[in-house]
Amino acid sequence: MYDFGSLSDLPKSELYEELARAATALVDGETDAVANMANLSALIWQFVPDLNWAGFYRRIEDELVLGPFMGKPACIRIPLGAGVCGAAAASGETQLVPDVHAFPGHIACDAASRSELVVPVIVEGGVVAVIDLDSPLPGRFDEEDAQGFARLAAIAANVLA
Ligand code: SME
Repeated sequence: MYDFGSLSDLPKSELYEELARAATALVDGETDAVANMANLSALIWQFVPDLNWAGFYRRIEDELVLGPFMGKPACIRIPLGAGVCGAAAASGETQLVPDVHAFPGHIACDAASRSELVVPVIVEGGVVAVIDLDSPLPGRFDEEDAQGFARLAAIAANVLA
């Protein structure tokens, strides 16, 4: 139904441009948060290379609760401040972790994960969710990935209010 071609062949700068375009089209006119998070997870999984987990945790009171994702079954509840996701949710700051084994309190949902990027989804100044990306490659994510996913988080923010 949605055919976005082969974005994964593009250089990183163009990949995130096209991914933002595709994400905008995908959520256009749809207000159901679960449906939008599910489709955004699938889009990321299809086009962003070298991931072993990609998806959402939603902030519910003092916890993050697992949302739609692609990858292996994962930890369901993460206290705010715990692990990489909890650090992103508590601080409202993107967490770029080149080596998860060096991150104090990292929560290993999939033993294959070696690096991680977590981007907060912010609505009206508050974190409502995080986008979590795990890779089996050490140092998989850089500042360009962080900026690219910040754009996706802004698109998600419009449909997760
Ligand atoms: N590694 C994360 C937990 C979530 S899983 O990676 C899907 C963390 O430390 O918060």
